[in-house]
Amino acid sequence: MSDNTTYKVLFVCLGNICRSPAAEGIFKKIVRKQGLNNKIEVDSAGTAGYHVGELPDSRMRQHGTRRGYKFDSLSRKFTSSDFDRFDIILAMDDSNYNNILRLAPDLDSEAKVHRMMDFSKKYENDHVPDPYYSGAEGFELVLDLLEDSCDGLLEKVKKDLSIQ
Ligand code: 4NP
Repeated sequence: MSDNTTYKVLFVCLGNICRSPAAEGIFKKIVRKQGLNNKIEVDSAGTAGYHVGELPDSRMRQHGTRRGYKFDSLSRKFTSSDFDRFDIILAMDDSNYNNILRLAPDLDSEAKVHRMMDFSKKYENDHVPDPYYSGAEGFELVLDLLEDSCDGLLEKVKKDLSIQ
């Protein structure tokens, strides 16, 4: 862990306006619900800088609102300094995974990078598909996959924190 007080989780996709801000909002909500917000910090970033400074995509925000989430983080680009700042880094798909690993300065940094769907409990999908050019069903699928994998991820984080 980067310090003794909090475990820091970073979700990463391509643009940081659809999948990773949704993962951030969903994970923050379950962390808060379990009273762990003083132990776990959550952020998100994108491997590309096309949308830096923007709110999440309005479609992602609307689909999230329907399920009771608020996605309101501003897009930022992933940088190699994130390897120092975070304990675990979750990639939404293989392209994100490879682009993150390319920036890893050492083996300890590489070991922090995981595929989000490795924490899924009930889906066979191996990645969270980019919904940007999809219809409503693409955004709903993203939320289904993220709700499930965020549950699995929280179990792993709690284990690492020796909670339960
Ligand atoms: P995200 O989705 O990686 O889940 O934020 C995308 C957002 C924007 C673009 C592609 C994917 N884009 O090409 O601008």
